[in-house]
Amino acid sequence: MKKIIILFALSITVGIIYSFQASPNKVITSKNFSDSLRKVYSGPIENWPKPNIDPDLINYRELGILPDSPLKEKEDSLKPLIELGRVLFFDPRLSGSGQISCSSCHAPSLSWTDGLVTARGHDHLLGERNTPTILNVWTYEKLFWDGRANSLEDQALGPINSEIEMHGDFGAIISRLKRIKGYLTKFDSAYGSSDITPGKITHALATFQRTVISRKSRFDQFLEGKSNALTDQEIRGLHFFRTQGRCINCHNGPLFTDGQFHNIGLTYYGRKYEDLGLYLTTKNPEDVGKFKTPSLRDVGNTRPYMHNGLFEELLGIVNMYSSGMPQPAKTPEQKNDPLFPKTSKHIQKLDLSMDQRKDIVAFLEAITTTPLRVRAPELPK
Ligand code: HEC
Ligand code: HEC
Repeated sequence: MKKIIILFALSITVGIIYSFQASPNKVITSKNFSDSLRKVYSGPIENWPKPNIDPDLINYRELGILPDSPLKEKEDSLKPLIELGRVLFFDPRLSGSGQISCSSCHAPSLSWTDGLVTARGHDHLLGERNTPTILNVWTYEKLFWDGRANSLEDQALGPINSEIEMHGDFGAIISRLKRIKGYLTKFDSAYGSSDITPGKITHALATFQRTVISRKSRFDQFLEGKSNALTDQEIRGLHFFRTQGRCINCHNGPLFTDGQFHNIGLTYYGRKYEDLGLYLTTKNPEDVGKFKTPSLRDVGNTRPYMHNGLFEELLGIVNMYSSGMPQPAKTPEQKNDPLFPKTSKHIQKLDLSMDQRKDIVAFLEAITTTPLRVRAPELPK
């Protein structure tokens, strides 16, 4: 044992002398820096360094431990309903062609996304938007990138009826389900009546989705007191995420989203891939180019990124934020255009060093977990 300790001490001394020679100040200060960060971030959240947030920011919430699904307590009594929702989610018979289910695009093995730049649905038609994960969707007040649905019940009508996504029509789907004995039983156990209605289908789908949440990440373990759950680099990333990187202005709270809509400069205004975002829902010119702030939990698994699938790599995203994101300028013809998009004033040029950017990416990986293995349920016959 003694021998090992002596050897260990010796190798540290040699290491320090060597690094001193290689780069006298840098190594020492960065080690001190990392140690002091670990110390404050291991303490109570109230004592963490002040976040770099803009003074007019509303709804700021500090980061925190992953909350449970609101259905957790009631899960046992809701079992038949959740089970019905799960089966419907995986059943392609909800689509016009009988070939596409919700899970075709929200696949559990891909953290409930599809891995595609933009969604591919009925007849291989391409949607214009990237498929978001359904992990933690119960926390959003507004759904879709442009906030056009107010609840999960409301949301499920979208894909089923959509020409591009599932190309179904509720009348035909209900007649189809009514002919499947297994469904009559499942609706009966869930609702006490085997009557099948659009309202029940969307309600069951919504209830199932409220149970789909992230797993606890290493960041959560760290907050719960396991101080070695994060590496030095990840703790520095957490720090830069909250301070110099300013990510926390929008990606805040336990889910890393403020649930609000912001224009971060990706509208493509007046170009082929133009997407006016929230404006399409509200018709308020202030909202052109705003999209919902996505949660960053499990973000390491949900590439490609953004409403249009523009980015493949997290480092590419952080590089873009660091350079201040696109800030489109008006051409003379656009001078009086009321719809010309304005990039959010919370987006600023950051000039992060490459090390800082990599630290932030490392932190994003520390709030990512391995997807749960979910077996597709057996479909009723
Ligand atoms: C063809 C692929 C496809 C299919 C099939 C599909 N979705 Fe989606 N889903 C998407 C895309 C793309 C979006 C984002 C659309 C937008 O914001 O305009 C989305 C958005 C959502 C959202 C909103 C997430 C958020 O963060 O706001 C939920 C919830 C959802 N889908 C659930 C479902 C359910 C339930 C079904 C089955 C009834 C389904 N999806 C079928 C591609 C698909
Ligand atoms: C002004 C608010 C705001 C700030 C500040 C901000 N974000 Fe975002 N973030 C958003 C919005 C809104 C989107 C979606 C934009 C879109 O799709 O057009 C987004 C998207 C992302 C995505 C893609 C997620 C996905 O699932 O597609 C990542 C990753 C991300 N942000 C990380 C960061 C990091 C890291 C920082 C700090 C360097 C940061 N954000 C700062 C609002 C913000």
